[in-house]
Amino acid sequence: MTETLQFSRHLSDHPASAERRGQILADPGFGNYFSDHTVVVDYKEDQAGIGGWNNARVEPYGPILMDPAAAVLHYGQEIFEGLKAYRHADGSVWTFRPEANAERFNKSAVRLALPELPDGVFVESLRELVAVDQGWIPSGDGAALYLRPFMIATEAFLGVRPAREVSYRVIASPAGNYFGGPLQPVSIWLSTTYARAGHGGTGEAKCGGNYAASLAAQLEAEAHGCKQVLFLDPTNDNAVEELGGMNIFFVFKDGTLVTPELNGNILHGVTRSSVIQLAKDRGLRIQERKITIDEWRNGVAAGEITEIFACGTAAVITPIGELKTAAGDIPSPALAGDSVSMSIRAQLLGIQTGTVEDTHGWLTRL
Ligand code: COI
Repeated sequence: MTETLQFSRHLSDHPASAERRGQILADPGFGNYFSDHTVVVDYKEDQAGIGGWNNARVEPYGPILMDPAAAVLHYGQEIFEGLKAYRHADGSVWTFRPEANAERFNKSAVRLALPELPDGVFVESLRELVAVDQGWIPSGDGAALYLRPFMIATEAFLGVRPAREVSYRVIASPAGNYFGGPLQPVSIWLSTTYARAGHGGTGEAKCGGNYAASLAAQLEAEAHGCKQVLFLDPTNDNAVEELGGMNIFFVFKDGTLVTPELNGNILHGVTRSSVIQLAKDRGLRIQERKITIDEWRNGVAAGEITEIFACGTAAVITPIGELKTAAGDIPSPALAGDSVSMSIRAQLLGIQTGTVEDTHGWLTRL
């Protein structure tokens, strides 16, 4: 689906002042501030059950007026995406692999019984928002304008069936390091109380419910002084799956990169697939396979596992420090100055910000 729509623009009459915006962009953190506008596209089915997207528009950023019976508020029929806009040295603005996000968005839509959005509308919606809010793009290591497309079921109806009225929206948030402050290894808590996803569930969909379900475990993590939680597949030898909001990689002594295979429970990360490609380009061996918590513990102890890192649009590539578990902690290997993960991170950010050649054609101009 490549078709697009004509967007109308209704600009804010009270945008943030340049001074306020400057203060925010100097230290945005992650997810704290939002740009002046939002994009909205409506979906409605007619009497015959034929649906269509219409009324594509840019509006001032603000609260959503919604019926209290809207399906999203009761049954969580919602999906979202995350990608970023980067300003290059010549002033042009680019985004990274938006077609991959558009494809994943539609896979999530199918899983959550929401209507698919034409890829062309997805990409155009980003372009429209960035066109009016490009003054919100921060600069600095790993900083970018985080774009959050999402789709919510707005029909007022309490029966449990797919909603016939839906809203697609995009908001933008200037973003620095997801974990705040300068980049440093994060400690992880191993949740054995909770699993993130079950077989046949929504694990590989990017839907709010997966993240809501991670929060009790995230609270446990924070109570143990950790920034993220690691989930296992308890039905499969305690295989490592993913973190609350990011994928995970292990670097072995011989240069092999191992990441959990996409088994239906794991998010198909765009950063994950980019890391795999960049590692392959370097001649490194990639294994997408089951890796258990025992292999992690023994691999670190034997010096076989030399680096562990998290990756995602928000996290970019963040080294993982120790893994804390109820059965004892697994220390992190010391991160060498010439680490594979930091080198791939620099290359990835270089491609995204236009200082390293984009040999895969991953960038799209906004
Ligand atoms: C992203 O990386 O874009 C996500 O949606 C993850 C979330 C933890 C912010």
